[in-house]
Amino acid sequence: MDEFLKRCFYHSGQYNSEEHFAELDIKLKEKEAGRKSNRLFYLSIPPNIFVDVVKCASLRASSASGWTRVIVEKPFGRDSESSGELTRSLKQYLREDQIFRIDHYLGKELVENLSVLRFSNLVFEPLWSRNYIRSVQFIFSEDFGTEGRGGYFDHYGIIRDIMQNHLLQILALFAMETPVSLDAEDIRNEKVKVLRSMKPLQLEDVNIGQYKGHSKGSRSYPAYTDDPTVPKDSLTPTFAAAVLFINNARWDGVPFLMKAGKALHTKRAEIRVQFRHVPGNLYRRNFGTDLDKATNELVLRVQPDEAIYLKINNKVPGLGMRLDRSDLNLLYRSRYPREIPDAYERLLLDAIEGERRLFIRSDELDAAWSLFTPLLKELEEKKIVPELYPYGSRGPVGAHYLAAKYNVRWGDLRTPEVSNCR
Ligand code: BG6
Repeated sequence: MDEFLKRCFYHSGQYNSEEHFAELDIKLKEKEAGRKSNRLFYLSIPPNIFVDVVKCASLRASSASGWTRVIVEKPFGRDSESSGELTRSLKQYLREDQIFRIDHYLGKELVENLSVLRFSNLVFEPLWSRNYIRSVQFIFSEDFGTEGRGGYFDHYGIIRDIMQNHLLQILALFAMETPVSLDAEDIRNEKVKVLRSMKPLQLEDVNIGQYKGHSKGSRSYPAYTDDPTVPKDSLTPTFAAAVLFINNARWDGVPFLMKAGKALHTKRAEIRVQFRHVPGNLYRRNFGTDLDKATNELVLRVQPDEAIYLKINNKVPGLGMRLDRSDLNLLYRSRYPREIPDAYERLLLDAIEGERRLFIRSDELDAAWSLFTPLLKELEEKKIVPELYPYGSRGPVGAHYLAAKYNVRWGDLRTPEVSNCR
């Protein structure tokens, strides 16, 4: 660490000054001392200055002897047009293979494990289709509001902030066909195919919400519009639920549900796979009228407290025949007590090693925006008012009606699985 820190330095300058980047180049060359050098620029900066920085860095501070790469953080535009414009501008100075568009959810341990689970276990892949899977849910919730990030957030909203990227990326990984190999291009080709097999989201398949303030005991919780950086009449959604479909042979008719929200009752990200009913279930009378209680569910809890568990039906030990739902549970902190690397650690290392598997290719990004852009425009043009939900609640009731329209119940509400599986 000491050796590493000795090599670190800080150089300040203007984002759009070629001269200042030329100074940076000189400093870097001093450190490189004539060795072959590679350069990785990580742009964790406001999107309106991406292009200026890329221009200056590429013209005046690229590596002369090795590679030059740039990591870009979202937002990659606000819609199809602005994203296309950003890509075109970046490509004036960089080749596609130099651009690493980060989506840090792809670097999360459980998201990485999704493909391993599916493709290297015989028990899962044969079930991975409309024949056995009834619905799939991608759930993201945070138990805090925008808290100081309202300025950024209000311009984007939860659909752009979480759904169009993090949740959609996980969906594509979940639903893709078996790639030819584990090479980045093979995997990304399959993901693009999934995205291109989906129809753009329709307004009637979406529910949006915004958190409102309330008091509980002596504590009071702010509304989204109490954030000083947010306009008082903002219609920006802080919650959204959506239902998407993949029109291909594997997934035809299976609802893929997404839910993302800020200021909800819990902080959690998970993937829930709900299986179909057992046809002619011999034990159906043990479940009463609610056969949904008997369906299997596979849950990948991405965070916190990473786990994979499968809900199964089980006989309660004893002389009678009482059934119970239990979990086959892989709890990471028990099985792998070592600390799990942060998503960014993995992604930065991948960028250094030139591994592009977990970064977003420009055609993936275009396909992702095509699914969301018409909806986002409609929401804004029609000034659709979000349903208010209290800070710290489970979100708007509209999300339940939306799921019910497709005969689905949100899995995170059904059972107290977190306490169950410990
Ligand atoms: C970011 C969003 O991409 O992800 C934030 O812009 C959100 O709004 C964050 O809070 C969540 O990331 P994590 O890793 O804390 O779940």
